Parts: sequence; structure tokens; C-alpha cells
Amino acid sequence: MTTSVPRPVLKDARALVAGIANEHSIAWGCAAAFRELGADLAITYLDEKAKPHVEPLARRLEAPIFLPLDVSKPGELEAVFERIGSEWGRLDILVHSIAWAPKDDLQGGLLNCSAEGFAKAMDISCHSFIRMARLAAPLMTGGGAMFAMSYHGARKVVANYNVMGPIKAALEAACRYLAWELGPKKIRVHPISPGPLKTRAASGLKDFDLLLNAAVGRAPIGELADIMDVGFACAYLATPFARRMTGQTLYIDGGVNIMG
Ligand SMILES: NC(=O)c1ccc[n+]([C@@H]2O[C@H](COP(=O)([O-])OP(=O)(O)OC[C@H]3O[C@@H](n4cnc5c(N)ncnc54)[C@H](O)[C@@H]3O)[C@@H](O)[C@H]2O)c1
Repeated sequence: MTTSVPRPVLKDARALVAGIANEHSIAWGCAAAFRELGADLAITYLDEKAKPHVEPLARRLEAPIFLPLDVSKPGELEAVFERIGSEWGRLDILVHSIAWAPKDDLQGGLLNCSAEGFAKAMDISCHSFIRMARLAAPLMTGGGAMFAMSYHGARKVVANYNVMGPIKAALEAACRYLAWELGPKKIRVHPISPGPLKTRAASGLKDFDLLLNAAVGRAPIGELADIMDVGFACAYLATPFARRMTGQTLYIDGGVNIMG
């Protein structure tokens, strides 16, 4: 049997992508893949310092919505969704590609993580996705797809991943519970688990280069994924071809996660 794949498969889809810092960001791979497949984009940047780095990228993708978003600043998330509501009236795809932890708490080991640092990291890296989903769901009137970036350290112990391990575990569980709550509205929710990638966020992890090299050595196909691989995998999950999949974590890591 032959199947014809209509291209561009995301034509008319409207996507919010939060978490682009620069061209190396996983969120950039998602936004570029969605655009290549026909989607319109809303792009956010952290603050005025980040804006000059993100603005040219948003322009390359012809994003009609470009707004600041610091999820820890009251009102900014609401403003993004108000604008999407007034400009588009609906949303089809949401990408949360945001993580942060105070350096001392991230690098000091879980045992020494402060209550304050843990709470802040959990709020920015996990609860902000729940807040986003709450605001996005009423706009996903025709169903939709939500993605949150996780990592293998959510499920297995990865040296030096420290406090981000329990936080990503919470994020993956939050995705599963949201998938259950939003399933009746045909909104699907997936944690995405990319293999290690050289990004600004990753540079905060102790000995990240060692982790990266070890992962390449263990990957059954001999190489790890790049940010466009992550983007196109999310794009597939956002299409009707994946309409009966929700909740599970998708690994995009050259197969590293299957290795003992
Ligand atoms: N790089 C990797 O190896 C890897 C692997 C698996 C998962 N991830 C996850 O992918 C996601 C994206 O990270 P990345 O590797 O692309 O790095 P990145 O540094 O390019 O992206 C992290 C983004 O988080 C944003 N951010 C931080 N605090 C924020 C806040 N308060 N409000 C709004 N945005 C905020 C930053 O502005 C930045 O755009 C993160 O969740 C990360 O944990 C990364």
C-alpha cells in the first residue's frame, strides 16, 4: 500500500515555541522544523538581553508574534496567550523548552540542594509548563499537541545531572497527568527526551563534554540527534498521523537510552 504524505503537513497550524536563546537551542530546532512544514509561529525571548539574539531568528521564520516571556515574572505568560488569542483565536502546538536551576544547587549535588533553589528550579522548569498548558488548552479548540523537553536523567541516574533529575521526573509525570486530563479535548501531551546537545543550558552541567562523548560512544547508530531531529520528531507528533499517541516520552537520542 502506498500512502501519500501531504506537504506541508503543518500548513495552517499555529505554534507557540518558548525557549529559544540562540541557534543552538532545541527550541530553535522545533521552530525551524515547524516552519519548514508550513506552521505559523509565536516566538518568545527571555528578556531585553536575550532579545537581540532571538529577534533575527524569529524574523527568519517570519513569526507574526514575538514577545518577552520570563515565566517567573507575573503577567508575562498571560500576555503571550492574550496576544495569541487576539491575533490567531486558536493554538495548535505548544513547545516548552525551558529549564533553569541556581548554579550552586545544580552543581553541588542533590544532597546539598537548598529548599529555595529546588523550589525555584521546579517552578521554572516544571510548574511553568502546567501554567502554560492551562492557558493554552482553551485555545486548542480543534485539539492540539503540547511538548515539554525532558532528559534521560529523569529516569536513570546520570552523573552530574543532580537536581535536574528529580525535576525532569516531575515534568514527565506532569505530562502524563495532563495527557489524561486533556485527552477528552483531543489535546495530546508528550515529554520529549533528546540526547545530550551542546547548548547554553547544557554548559551549566559539570563535565558535560564527558557526558556527551560517552553518549556518542554508546549510541547504537553511532551518533546523537541534532536539534532539527528533535524538531521534526515533534512535528510528526503534532500531525494527525500521531493522533492516537499521547503521554509517553519520546527519546530522540540515537538510541542511547536502550543501552544498559
Ligand atoms: N541540551 C541538552 O543536552 C538537553 C537534553 C535534553 C533536554 N534538554 C532540555 O531542553 C530544554 C532547552 O534547553 P537547551 O538545551 O535548548 O538550552 P538553551 O539554553 O538553548 O534553552 C534554555 C532556555 O530556557 C530559557 N529560560 C530559562 N529561564 C527561563 C525563564 N525564567 N522564563 C522563560 N525562559 C527561561 C532560556 O532563556 C533558554 O532560551 C531544557 O528544558 C533542557 O533541560 C536539553
